[in-house]
Amino acid sequence: MKPACSYAATYAASLANPAGFWAAQAHHLHWDKPSHEPLSQDENGFYRWFKGGELNTAYLCLDYHVANGRADQPALIYDSPVTNTQRTYTYAELLDHTARLAGGLRELGVALGDRVLIYMPNMPEAVMAMLACARLGAVHSVVFGGFAPHELAVRIDDAQPRAVICASGGMEFDRVIPYKPLVDEALAKARFKPAHVVVCQRDFVTADLQTGRDIDFQALLQAAPVPAVPVPATHPLYILYTSGTTGRPKGVVRDNGGHAVALHFSMRAIYALEPGEVMFSGSDIGWAVGSSYIVYGPLLRGCTTVLFEGKPVRTPDAGTFWRLIAQYNVNVMFTAPTAIRAIKKEDPDGLLAKKYDLSSLRYLFLAGERCDPDTYHWAGQLLGVPVVDHWWQTESGWPMLATLVGLECMPAARPGSAGHPVPGYDIQILDEAGQPVPAGTTGLVAVKLPLPPGCFPTLWHDDARFRESYLETFPGYYLSGDGGYRDADGYTYIMGRVDDVINVAGHRLSTGEIEEILAAHHAVAECAVLGIADALRGQVPVGIVVLKDGQTIGAEALEQELVGAVRNQIGALACFRQVLVAKRLPKTRSGKILRKTLRQLADGEDFPMPATIDDPLILDEIRAGLQRQGIGAAFETH
Ligand code: COA
Ligand code: AMP
Repeated sequence: MKPACSYAATYAASLANPAGFWAAQAHHLHWDKPSHEPLSQDENGFYRWFKGGELNTAYLCLDYHVANGRADQPALIYDSPVTNTQRTYTYAELLDHTARLAGGLRELGVALGDRVLIYMPNMPEAVMAMLACARLGAVHSVVFGGFAPHELAVRIDDAQPRAVICASGGMEFDRVIPYKPLVDEALAKARFKPAHVVVCQRDFVTADLQTGRDIDFQALLQAAPVPAVPVPATHPLYILYTSGTTGRPKGVVRDNGGHAVALHFSMRAIYALEPGEVMFSGSDIGWAVGSSYIVYGPLLRGCTTVLFEGKPVRTPDAGTFWRLIAQYNVNVMFTAPTAIRAIKKEDPDGLLAKKYDLSSLRYLFLAGERCDPDTYHWAGQLLGVPVVDHWWQTESGWPMLATLVGLECMPAARPGSAGHPVPGYDIQILDEAGQPVPAGTTGLVAVKLPLPPGCFPTLWHDDARFRESYLETFPGYYLSGDGGYRDADGYTYIMGRVDDVINVAGHRLSTGEIEEILAAHHAVAECAVLGIADALRGQVPVGIVVLKDGQTIGAEALEQELVGAVRNQIGALACFRQVLVAKRLPKTRSGKILRKTLRQLADGEDFPMPATIDDPLILDEIRAGLQRQGIGAAFETH
C-alpha cells in the first residue's frame, strides 16, 4: 500500500519543518525511550538527530519482527554459487544466532562502544556479526575483502577494535583467497593490537589459529543468548571507511537512531517495499550499499534479504542475477551499473534472462556511479520494469537523489539523471563562489544543512577533518565532491567527482593514495594518477610518472613494480595496471600540478588551456604518450 502522500508535498514538508517531519517518521519504529529533541546541535555545532532517545538497531531488525508475527518468515537467504551453498534463515533463526554470537562476544569482553572490525565476504556469519555488535552497542567496521593487509592495518589503527572477526577465506570466481594470513599480516603491521581474532572457518580453507588470541566463530555461537542493549540514538552503530583525497581513509560514522529512521523511511518511500517482500542488493557488505540495503534496510522493514556471494558474471554465468530473482521472487533489485555492463558484455542479447520467470520484479535500482543511458535502456528493455538511477554516497548512507516510487505523483525517471531530491535533502548546485547556478549550468553539488537523519554526523575521532572536508568550503552546506547540473524540469544529473576521488567498478578510490604509493618508488621523482574512462568499470586509474635524473629502469619493469606496489598496498580491487613515463607533468608557473586539466585531458574533454600553465606543449606530449600506449577508451571516442 502506498503512503497517501505526494512526492511534492512530502518533500516540501521535510524542508519546511525537518524536526517535525522526522519525528513523525520515527513513530514507525519501536523506541525504548523516545526522543523529545528530534534535531539539535552538539558542542561543535554539528547536527544530531533524536538526542535523548534510546533504541537498539538489532532489536528493531530481529526481535521486533519475531514478536510481531514474522518468526517463521525468511529474513536472510544466502545464495553462494562459488561455494555451492543455499541456505535460508528465518527471523527466529537469525535472532537466535545473533543473540548467541552477541553472548559469545560479550564473554570476550566486547561491550558498549567497543569497536569490532569485520573482514568477511558476503556470508550469513558476517551479517550475524554486524547485528551481534549492534545488539551489544558495540561499533562494527566492515572492511571489504578486496583490501590488502596495509589498508586493513590502517583501519585497525584508526578504529582500535577490541576484536577482529574474519572468515578463513573467500572465493573470487573459482580462486580461493585465504583471508586469515591477510589479517595476520595486517595485525603484524598495525600499531594497535586487538585482544581477539574470531575466525569463521570455511569448508574450502582452514585457517591456523594462534593460541590465546584466536577463537573459533562456532565456539562463540554456543554461548547463551543475550538481550539487546538499548543505546542512545546518537551512539555510533558503525564506522565505514571510505576513500578521501589522501592516503588516509575517512571513517564515516553512522548513528543508531537517525540511521534506523532514515532507512525505514527509504524502504517505504524510495523502494516501495512492504514487510514480507524480497529485496536483493547485488553489492558487498563492505560497501555502504551492502550495509544499508543488504542488511539494515530490509531487516528494519521486515523484508527478506538475499545475500549473494558471487559476481554478476561467471558464477556460473551472466544469468546468475536473473536466477536469483526467479528463485526467490525478488521484488526489488539493486546493483551498480558496472554489474549490468558486465552482464551485457557477456550476454549482449540478454538470452539468459529469458530462461527465468522475472514476473516478481517491480524495479531495478542502480547506484554507485553514473548510469550511462545505454546501460539504463538495455536493462529496462531486458527486464521490462522501471530502472531507477539514484545517487548517494557512503557519507549519506542512503539515497540523496532518486525517483521515489513509493510516493504518489513522482515524475518518471529520466535516463542520465539520478532524479529528484529525496525528502530531507535540500540539494543545490553552486558555483565556485557558493552561489546557486541557473538550470542547465554545471556546478558543485552541495546539500544545505542540516542533513537528514542517517547521514554521518562526523568522522570517527576526527571532527576537524569532518569540518574541513565537507563543511568549510561553503558555510551552511555539505559539499558532496560531485559535480552536476539540474535541468529546467528539476531533474538532477550527477556528472562525476570534482576532486581526487575516482570510481572503479562502483568502488571509490583515492588517486592521492595511489600517488603516494607511486611516489615512494625509488625511481619516481613525481607523479599524477588519473581516472581514465573504461567501458566496463566506468573508470580505471592510470599513473603518469616522471623519473628522477639518472634513472635507467625500463618502462616495462617500472610499470610492473608500480602495479605490484599498488596491488600489495591497496589491493587488487584498485585495478591499477598502466603507467606512462613522461618527461614532465603540466604545472602552473608556481609549480602546482594541473590535476584538473589532466583529468579533463584523460576524459577527452575540450578544455581551455590554463592561463597559468608553464609549458602548454606538455599536454600534447602526455596525450600522445597515452595514445601510443593505447590507454583510455575515451581517446577513441572523443
Ligand atoms: N576479495 C579479494 N579480491 C577481490 C575481491 C574480494 N572481495 N573483490 C575483487 N577482488 C579482486 C578481483 O579478484 C580482481 O583481481 P585480479 O586483478 O587478480 O583479477 C580485482 O580485485 C578486481 O576486481 P573487480 O573489479 O571486481 O573485477 P572482476 O573482473 O572480478 O569483476 C565486475 C568485475 C564488474 C563483475 C565486478 O567488479 C562487480 O560485480 N562490480 C559491481 C560492484 C559493486 O557491487 N559495487 C558496490 C557499489 S553498489
Ligand atoms: P561511495 O561513497 O563509494 O558510495 O561513492 C559515492 C560516489 O559514487 C559519489 O560521490 C558519486 O561520485 C558516485 N555515485 C554514486 N551514485 C551515483 C549515481 N547514481 N550517479 C552518479 N554518480 C554516482
